[in-house]
Amino acid sequence: MKALVLSGGSGTRLRPFSYSMPKQLIPIANRPVLEHVVESIRAMGVTEIGIVVGSWGATIADVIGDGSRFGARITYIPQDEPMGLAHCVQLARPFLGDDDFVMYLGDNMLPDGVTHVAEEFTASRPAAQVVLHRVSDPRAFGVAEVDESGAVQRLVEKPQHPKSDLALIGVYFFTKAIHQAVDTIKPSARGELEITDAIQLMLEQGAQIKASLYEGYWQDTGRAEDVLECNARLLAALTSRIDGEVDDTSELSGTVVIAAGARVVRSKLVGPIIVGADSVVEDSHIGPGTSIGTGCTLRATRITESIVLAGANIANVPGLHRSLIGRSASVSPSDRGIAQHRMVIGDNTVIEVAA
Ligand code: TTP
Repeated sequence: MKALVLSGGSGTRLRPFSYSMPKQLIPIANRPVLEHVVESIRAMGVTEIGIVVGSWGATIADVIGDGSRFGARITYIPQDEPMGLAHCVQLARPFLGDDDFVMYLGDNMLPDGVTHVAEEFTASRPAAQVVLHRVSDPRAFGVAEVDESGAVQRLVEKPQHPKSDLALIGVYFFTKAIHQAVDTIKPSARGELEITDAIQLMLEQGAQIKASLYEGYWQDTGRAEDVLECNARLLAALTSRIDGEVDDTSELSGTVVIAAGARVVRSKLVGPIIVGADSVVEDSHIGPGTSIGTGCTLRATRITESIVLAGANIANVPGLHRSLIGRSASVSPSDRGIAQHRMVIGDNTVIEVAA
């Protein structure tokens, strides 16, 4: 079996981050989402991985590489415009050939693993196998109607009146039967070739489509809130490890990971947290649920449930909460008097100030 990872797209929901980096490289527990995805695929025993990339292709290839560090071989497949998930399958045909494949959305996190679904698919080889997850509001998803044997009866995209709470999430297993379907469907109202339309067409043509329930933790990291929630969740699964320096006056509790070259001085760290290589934390309170990237400086700051990306500087800010701070960003109080805020911020940025 091969794997096809979709890592193009426009990432509008993750602005302003997606202006300066692809959303699939946003760090979760200090590792890009896409690395978690590749590892999840490797856990299925798959080594041939194609990654569909858009305008950020070169940046993604720089970070992820040729796959050798994952024990895999990665082929990058360029997509000029995000024309839909089924369009990605069309583009990838030369890479996929007639092989079975798992299609994995490059911004989806399923940390509890889908190896069991890969095994079920390989054992029974239906035309396709989808992964479903129970959600509280299915109206925002592709929704599946499934019989007692796990056979999909119908798929409906974003139904007003959902017949089940079983949403399609970002992992699909296909045989070569999908290719005829993606070549037959027409673009949807939003102008994309939809994978749900292709699977629905297969169903109508009498193909067997099976469903598996994923009961673990799932997150689509398409929005900042999702990224923060997923980060806190993954941090909770880490094991404490201190490779950097922590002075005697600092207090640590819970799971704390301090990378080599990082320095913690006179601070309180409440896990789960991770502090990246070569970062300095002084007179600060960090965590819980917080990741500090590499080469950051935090002084006299209190920060919880947040992600700070590489090279950011934060000084004298006593109450940062649920914040996502971009690379080399600087956050500090105004030196012009307490009643003023000075901001140099990009498009679509969200700022909430204490009023
Ligand atoms: P989405 O998150 O549905 O789409 P998007 O990236 O355009 O995001 P937004 O809605 O915020 O603008 O895409 C799911 C995954 O599939 C994501 O990793 C991007 C990828 N993708 C492609 O590679 N090509 C495409 O044509 C589309 C639509 C998505």
